[in-house]
Amino acid sequence: MKKIDVCLTPELLHQYDLEHKIVVVVDILRATSCMVSGLANGVKEIVPVSTLEDCKALQDSGYLAAAERNGSKADGFDMGNSPFEYMDEKVKGKKVAVTTTNGTLAIHKSLSAKEILIGAFLNLKALTDYLKNKEEDIIVLCAGWKGKFNLEDTLFAGALCHHLKNDFEFACDAPLAAEAMYLTAKNDIMKYMKDSSHAKRLAKLDVVKDIEFCIQESIYDVIPYLSGKSLLSKK
Ligand code: MLT
Repeated sequence: MKKIDVCLTPELLHQYDLEHKIVVVVDILRATSCMVSGLANGVKEIVPVSTLEDCKALQDSGYLAAAERNGSKADGFDMGNSPFEYMDEKVKGKKVAVTTTNGTLAIHKSLSAKEILIGAFLNLKALTDYLKNKEEDIIVLCAGWKGKFNLEDTLFAGALCHHLKNDFEFACDAPLAAEAMYLTAKNDIMKYMKDSSHAKRLAKLDVVKDIEFCIQESIYDVIPYLSGKSLLSKK
């Protein structure tokens, strides 16, 4: 039976063989939620890069440039990392280069995978329906926070595992634990997440509305996938 596994932080990724597998990268607060929102609202393509310098270089070549570090917008860039910025009229039809603290790094650490998809609560159903019919094993990579475990990405991993458990076998205990967390939290994800370290960090930066937006389930049917250096959308 095809398998699904969960890598709780990118620091553990060396223990997983990504070849021939599908990697679903998740960074609920807020990188992958932004990527899904942007492509669902008319952004042409999104190029995830690891450094501010790479993002600046693409800005100089005409891309809109989004850059976040430690939750805040980096100086000298067009956008930070709020999903609301990715739904603005100014980004429609545009190419956006993006670098964030964790999410873009997790994408770059997954490049040996057969297919890289972007997951968020916002596209949970679209992603589940797509993956059900795939033959490859899946690894859900949680972006975490600077190499450490985080709650919100694991909750999403648990939700995806829960919705795919009739089609995929859990490969080890991480999917089991993630699903258990999701089943505990699913009736009030905001209540469960409000004490998470990044939710508190973002609250201090006064972007609680971003958190409320990012935990909505299945409001978009786009599935961003990596094609070369760019994220495009499967609809
Ligand atoms: C990240 O990539 O670390 C996050 O998306 C950060 C954020 O948006 O606050």
